[in-house]
This record gives sequence, C-alpha cells and structure tokens, in this order.
Amino acid sequence: MSKNRICELLGIRYPIIQAPMNWVSGADLVAAVSDSGGLGTLGPNAGADHITEDVGLTGERMRAQIRKVRKHTQAPFAVNIVVGFGEDVKYSRKMVDVIVEEEVPVAIVSVGSPDVYTQELKDAGIKVLHAISTPRHAKKAEKAGVDAVICEGYEAGGHKGFTELTTLVLTPMVADAVNIPVITGGGIGDARGVLAALVLGADGIYMGTRFMATRESNSHNRVKDAIVGGKDACTVSVPKDHMMARDLINNFTKEYAALKTAGADPEVINNYLDEHSQYRSQHLGEADAAEICCGQVAGLITEVTGVGDVMTDILESLGPRFDELKRKVADFF
Ligand SMILES: Cc1cc2nc3c(=O)[nH]c(=O)nc-3n(C[C@H](O)[C@H](O)[C@H](O)COP(=O)(O)O)c2cc1C
Repeated sequence: MSKNRICELLGIRYPIIQAPMNWVSGADLVAAVSDSGGLGTLGPNAGADHITEDVGLTGERMRAQIRKVRKHTQAPFAVNIVVGFGEDVKYSRKMVDVIVEEEVPVAIVSVGSPDVYTQELKDAGIKVLHAISTPRHAKKAEKAGVDAVICEGYEAGGHKGFTELTTLVLTPMVADAVNIPVITGGGIGDARGVLAALVLGADGIYMGTRFMATRESNSHNRVKDAIVGGKDACTVSVPKDHMMARDLINNFTKEYAALKTAGADPEVINNYLDEHSQYRSQHLGEADAAEICCGQVAGLITEVTGVGDVMTDILESLGPRFDELKRKVADFF
C-alpha cells in the first residue's frame, strides 16, 4: 500500500482526484477515473438530461448514478455535496441521505460550512474531503473533523468564493496551517502541475477541467471542442450574487459583463443567468451562447483524450519531470 497520505486515507492507487463538475462528471467519467487508480467524483446533475427542482427526483437520479458506477468498478469513488445556502440546503440534505443509504465511501463537500454535515457523514463511516479557498477556512474544516482539505486556487474552473488566492500561494499556506492531508487544484492538467503541487506541500491532486475534456465526460462535444480551442487567456472571472465563477470566454461572458456594466436590474441579471445556464452548454451544446465553467488550464489542453490517456501521461511523465527538476535545482547553486 502507498505511503501517500491521500492514497492511504481513500484506499486508492494514485492521489489524483477528479473534481466534481455540474452536468459533466457522471458515472462513466467517475468509473473510468476510479478504475485507473484515481478517485472519480459524481457531481450535481450527474447523468441527468433535464433541469429539475424536485428534491426527491434529484436524490433518485444520484442514487441511479451511484449504482451505475458500482456496476463498472469496485474501486472507491466520491459524491459531491454542495451544501448551498438558504432554501437550497434541501438538495444537499437529500444528497447526504442518499449517500449514507448507498454507503458511498467518500464525500467531497463544497460551497458551505464544514459544520453542517461533517459529523453526520463521519458517523456513517464516510470519508469527508472539504473544499476551501483560504487557510482560515481550512483550519475551520480541520476543527470540524474533516479527513482532508481541498484547496481550490483562483485558476480553477467553476464557482467559488470571492477570494483570489492562487494555487501557488494557497497551497503552501494551507499545508502550513493544518495537520490533515492537503489536496490541491486549480490549474493542474499535466505532470508539471502535479509535481509543482507536490513541491508546494500537497498530498493529493484535484483536477476538473482536464477531465472535462475527455471522451468519458458528459460534456457536450461542442463544449469539449471549445475547451481545446481555448488558447492563452481564454477564461474570465465572473462575479455573481454569492460567488465568483471562472468561465470560458464566449458570447455568454461578454453579454453578461455588458449587463453588469450597464447596471442592469438584479432580476434581469438573474433571468439572464437562468436562461444561459450550464445545462444549455453542457447538455444542449450551446457552447457560445451559454455559460461554460472552465479553468485557466484550458489553454494547456490540446486534445480530447480518454481518461486512461490523461492518467498514463501524468504517471509516465512524472519521473522524467522530477529528474529534470532535480537537475535544475542542482544547477541553481
Ligand atoms: C464545468 C465545471 C463544473 C464544476 N462544478 C462544480 C460543482 O458542481 N461542485 C463543486 O464543488 N465544484 C465544481 N467545479 C469546480 C471543480 O470541482 C474544481 O474545483 C476545479 O475544476 C479545479 O480546477 P481546474 O478546473 O483548474 O482543474 C466545477 C468546475 C468545472 C470546470
């Protein structure tokens, strides 16, 4: 068994975790990552084909995905619990019930306080990984009893708080602040990023965008092509009511910015967001008109490959990259 703290904790071969992605990380992606020795994570709306506000249906759709993963692999996997705020907590409450009933081994908890579900999940024998974006939040999660924290740097695709700590700065700060294992993500897409994360003090790697651009992800092909087509500074930080999102620059991000600059009424803005949601890009393929959450690492992704290729590429390049690093460090003096 590996001496790596994340591998030991989760019972996996390689400390590479596929981050949860709304509409994108369904059972096929999750099973492929877990089967390759990493940890796959089912995200909100995994495998779903329409939007629903029905809490019961949301739970049953996730249950079906959990069972589908288990049909394909015996390996450990995770389910994302997006805690949420106000009324929306009813969805995460349901999700916790389902994963406890289904005896899912790992929960990745995000967008909310670690005080809400940690104890309940741990009492059910579930390992809890909590997503944070500041050292203060990491310490709070450790105090609440989570098994490991996940750093989400500013480069990361998707929604997070308003803090702008980059992976380069956040990771060592958190590694210094807590004693539990640290997983880090935001901007990692290949062996160079993995090695850098390890050097910064991380025990495990968290990758979303790179896995979105794989054959197994539920992302629409037009979205995958748009990610591969993204060059240089192809993403932008998008301010919303309670959070920031990092999105691929497209007509949606331009129109949204124009509305904000014009000081549009909050109701107009919220309607615009509803009518151009990720469901429309990820499921219907409206890759220019609708929102695509996406990390800065898109600029490093040159092709859509299989999950196995992503894993093999990282694992096979890690040794040579490490040798190169050692040479560079030696040459430094
Ligand atoms: C398309 C997409 C959807 C996402 N949806 C979620 C989500 O539902 N829940 C969550 O906790 N994080 C979500 N995230 C954030 C990821 O879990 C993760 O923090 C991020 O992808 C890591 O950075 P990277 O994209 O640079 O790899 C999403 C990210 C992307 C790209």
